[in-house]
Amino acid sequence: MLLHLAGKTAVLCTFLCLTFSILSTVKAEDPYKFFNWNVTYGFIYPLGVRQQGILINGQFPGPDIHSVTNDNLIINVFNSLDEPFLLSWNGIQQRRNSFEDGVFGTTCPIPPGKNFTYILQVKDQIGSFYYFPSLGFHKAAGAFGGIRILSRPRIPVPFADPAGDYTILIGDWYKTNHTNLKAILDRGRKLPSPDGILINGRGSNGYYLTVEQGKTYRLRISNVGLQNSLNFRIQNHKMKLVEVEGTHTLQSTYSSLDVHVGQSYSVLFTADQPGQDYYIVVTSRFTAPVVLNATGILHYSNSAGSVSGPFPGGPTTQIDWSLNQARSIRTNLTASGPRPNPQGSYHYGMINTTRTIVVANSAGQVNGKQRYGVNSVSFIAPDTPMKLADYFKIQGVFKENSISDRPYGGGLYLDTSVLTVPYRAFVEIVFQNNEDIVQSWHLDGYSFFVVGMDGGQWTTASRNGYNLRDAVSRCTTQVYPKAWTAIYIPLDNVGMWNLRTEFWARQYLGQQFYLRVYTDSNSLRDEFPIPKNALLCVRARIEFSKETSMADSSRFDHDLFLAHKFPEVSLLYLSMKSRQGSRLITSYTYTERDAAIYALGVGACCRDAIDSDELKYVYHENGQQFVQVLPTFAALFSLGSLTNGIIDLPGLQFDPRLLLHGQQYIQIYKPFPSNASLINKVSLAGLHDKGKAAILELETKSYEKESGELLCMNRSTIYLRGAGGFSNSSHPYSYSNYPKNQVPAVKIPKSQPFAVFEDCTQPSQALLYRLSGDYNPLHSDPMIAKVAGFSRPILHGLCTLGFAVRAIIKCICRGDANIVKTISGRFLLHVYPGETLITEMWLDGLRVVYQTKVKERNRAVLSGFVDLHRLTSSL
Ligand SMILES: *[C@@H]1O[C@H](CO)[C@@H](O)[C@H](O)[C@H]1NC(C)=O
Ligand SMILES: *[C@@H]1O[C@H](CO)[C@@H](O)[C@H](O)[C@H]1NC(C)=O
Ligand SMILES: *[C@@H]1O[C@H](CO)[C@@H](O)[C@H](O)[C@H]1NC(C)=O
Ligand SMILES: *[C@@H]1O[C@H](CO)[C@@H](O)[C@H](O)[C@H]1NC(C)=O
Ligand SMILES: *[C@@H]1O[C@H](CO)[C@@H](O)[C@H](O)[C@H]1NC(C)=O
Ligand SMILES: *[C@@H]1O[C@H](CO)[C@@H](O)[C@H](O)[C@H]1NC(C)=O
Ligand SMILES: *[C@@H]1O[C@H](CO)[C@@H](O)[C@H](O)[C@H]1NC(C)=O
Ligand SMILES: *[C@@H]1O[C@H](CO)[C@@H](O)[C@H](O)[C@H]1NC(C)=O
Ligand SMILES: *[C@@H]1O[C@H](CO)[C@@H](O)[C@H](O)[C@H]1NC(C)=O
Repeated sequence: MLLHLAGKTAVLCTFLCLTFSILSTVKAEDPYKFFNWNVTYGFIYPLGVRQQGILINGQFPGPDIHSVTNDNLIINVFNSLDEPFLLSWNGIQQRRNSFEDGVFGTTCPIPPGKNFTYILQVKDQIGSFYYFPSLGFHKAAGAFGGIRILSRPRIPVPFADPAGDYTILIGDWYKTNHTNLKAILDRGRKLPSPDGILINGRGSNGYYLTVEQGKTYRLRISNVGLQNSLNFRIQNHKMKLVEVEGTHTLQSTYSSLDVHVGQSYSVLFTADQPGQDYYIVVTSRFTAPVVLNATGILHYSNSAGSVSGPFPGGPTTQIDWSLNQARSIRTNLTASGPRPNPQGSYHYGMINTTRTIVVANSAGQVNGKQRYGVNSVSFIAPDTPMKLADYFKIQGVFKENSISDRPYGGGLYLDTSVLTVPYRAFVEIVFQNNEDIVQSWHLDGYSFFVVGMDGGQWTTASRNGYNLRDAVSRCTTQVYPKAWTAIYIPLDNVGMWNLRTEFWARQYLGQQFYLRVYTDSNSLRDEFPIPKNALLCVRARIEFSKETSMADSSRFDHDLFLAHKFPEVSLLYLSMKSRQGSRLITSYTYTERDAAIYALGVGACCRDAIDSDELKYVYHENGQQFVQVLPTFAALFSLGSLTNGIIDLPGLQFDPRLLLHGQQYIQIYKPFPSNASLINKVSLAGLHDKGKAAILELETKSYEKESGELLCMNRSTIYLRGAGGFSNSSHPYSYSNYPKNQVPAVKIPKSQPFAVFEDCTQPSQALLYRLSGDYNPLHSDPMIAKVAGFSRPILHGLCTLGFAVRAIIKCICRGDANIVKTISGRFLLHVYPGETLITEMWLDGLRVVYQTKVKERNRAVLSGFVDLHRLTSSL
């Protein structure tokens, strides 16, 4: 990785590290599974009428994802719809990585015609889950599918391998298409009841499962529907429940199972009946008198007869039946999980909760339109995902704690509700449902212990009935009508996590919020950096391009931070010091050829191949023995060393992609030889705690290896976002060890410039300059430049500096580069190759103050000063 003045390092690393980062954020030995998915519209006929469905690779439902604990899933999703699209992964915990969660609060939508690659790891998980489209009302059109995570080969599973393992997606369904359903909700009206039920995308008797008599099969049943709780049963067969959303359960036997919307269960059943066909039945719960139903066929391979007559009945309105079943579902404490001993010494029942959050759902109207809320707040999505707002510190997207952690009597109102809870808190959440519908709540990023549920109002006395021993750990729990459910969650996954009802119309109309599990540690141990390929929308995009194209001057206000100088030395600084006496040593060797290619790269002889001032940088003119070397060539001396140096420093943790190279100060002690081996000694010249950020000033002294002579010194100011806050005192830490008069801030005079020089960069300028050693694709690859928010590859910042200093040598030094003593530059904005650079210069004693503008856009791109040893006689 290379640094350069342009402050583009953030972007640079973003792309250079793409492949690398996948390896660095997850362990290299964990396998990768690649998926390429094309999301399209297509006609489907699940209830006998033609509908526009959303297909994945032509399939409805979408393809299953088969994985093993810790697999890395690289899922490239092409959005071929005519509207934005996102997939979310119900139950996948996205540890430290809420960026990949695929809900609006964390991830920008994939624009129509574009693709996005999710990079997920099913870290320390097993079990049965599903994915679904999270935006709008897409879920009513398909694009859902099963996800299974198998145990690693050596981890025992508490039952014998089944003869077959099948995904069964059940759900209620509308004949109306998703755009029409959404339009009803957008108009502020309630949806009618669904029209039917589907089993794996088929209506009655459309789904067919063939089994062999005597064998045992596993079914992974998920309710991917929009609102109804469903009862699942197989005629004449018992089911043994073995797993619920990643937890191996006590293997109890049931003749039918309630699956609430959003939930997943795994059951085993044995084909132990006479050889014929049997009904697989799914009926809606709590909807009587209208009970929706769908049947599938369980076909024995030796079947002597098909199904006939009515299918077996099941529970319809009975709440107690369902509640008792729910309470009977418990964890098998001796069974394995993702690891052989899932509990270890940790047991949820032994830990005191640190906070109680009570979540009450309600329905009502806001501005005459139907809305649904949580603790009186009906969630509305901001224009920019809150996770990205948090990451880029964008103000005004959401307010922290914009939702209360208790219900209060007030009416519904709209807000972007985010509740901040500290990382590592152990929280009790009580879902209080005072309405007469069944609720189903899901939390992304976690699985939680369902410690209790009962009718009526929850009170602290309700805790006496909690199951603190073997409650099941899952990610979606039901709450019965006029009842409560309590869960315990260890908040060990930093991120922005959606807590939502799975009743989809309610979710769409605001019954959700985000739990912001927060730490200010900025450690990669706690949270991954934003993915390199993250889509950026609206304010995140603006912020990103602002940060990468412009160094915000206030952050580099030396005067301000020099004013805070404290004697105590922070741990961070100590740990840097302990390394070779605060010094890093690197070396660099160059030849004449490097010096000449560099000179061409910064435009020498660009307009005039016989330019008498510049030919000497590229050619042995007049029998000259060596080419001369431009003073800005110093920029290349320590390429590469800097970033590595910082990354290696113990005690300093930051995201290298958030590193901005702000400004540069170079002192030249001796003209550079045309070839040399150099030793660079890098040391810390300053360190400042700016709260969220740290500012680091690094000094590089370059010595000629043979003679040991000091050639030049350069000092770079580097802004490390997210690395601040290390001060252990009431005053922010600030240290610098160089004279104040070397601060490279300049005021651009209002007066007429002393000289102005206009110079064209070539369209190929960046392609030429990169041969000097900065191969960041941002300067050569059109795609990468686009993703970074530029219309084309941009010029290297140090190349612009080379142009500016060349202009000064030409206009003020009359071509004599040797009188340049000091160079300082601050990068302000990017330049596109081919643009015209105008450098204005003002003389102030021996100091040349300069400013470089892009003529075509009339914008300043660089400013600074050059100090001279003397003035040439002609001035
Ligand atoms: C996706 O499918 C559509 C329709 O079949 C096709 O036009 C398009 O080229 C496909 N895109 C990709 C990336 O495969
Ligand atoms: C839904 O149906 C309406 C007509 O009822 C149609 O205009 C619209 O294009 C359909 N939407 C989709 C996604 O098929
Ligand atoms: C889009 O797909 C291409 C491969 O077809 C892939 O190289 C690229 O990284 C994908 N884009 C994103 C943003 O994931
Ligand atoms: C619990 O798991 C153990 C270990 O696999 C198994 O032997 C036992 O049968 C299970 N118990 C129940 C009640 O499911
Ligand atoms: C199943 O649903 C159909 C309509 O989809 C209905 O006609 C039938 O009466 C239902 N059967 C039962 C047993 O509820
Ligand atoms: C939990 O709280 C109780 C009462 O406040 C206290 O006695 C007990 O030691 C605490 N347990 C733990 C593990 O902190
Ligand atoms: C200054 O030194 C840094 C290393 O500390 C190097 O990366 C950078 O390119 C140098 N810049 C100039 C203009 O000398
Ligand atoms: C390097 O420069 C020295 C003189 O400073 C010269 O003798 C030598 O030939 C040069 N070597 C190369 C490889 O340019
Ligand atoms: C921070 O200061 C407190 C009290 O002044 C001290 O106890 C603690 O050890 C210090 N921590 C570090 C990391 O220096």
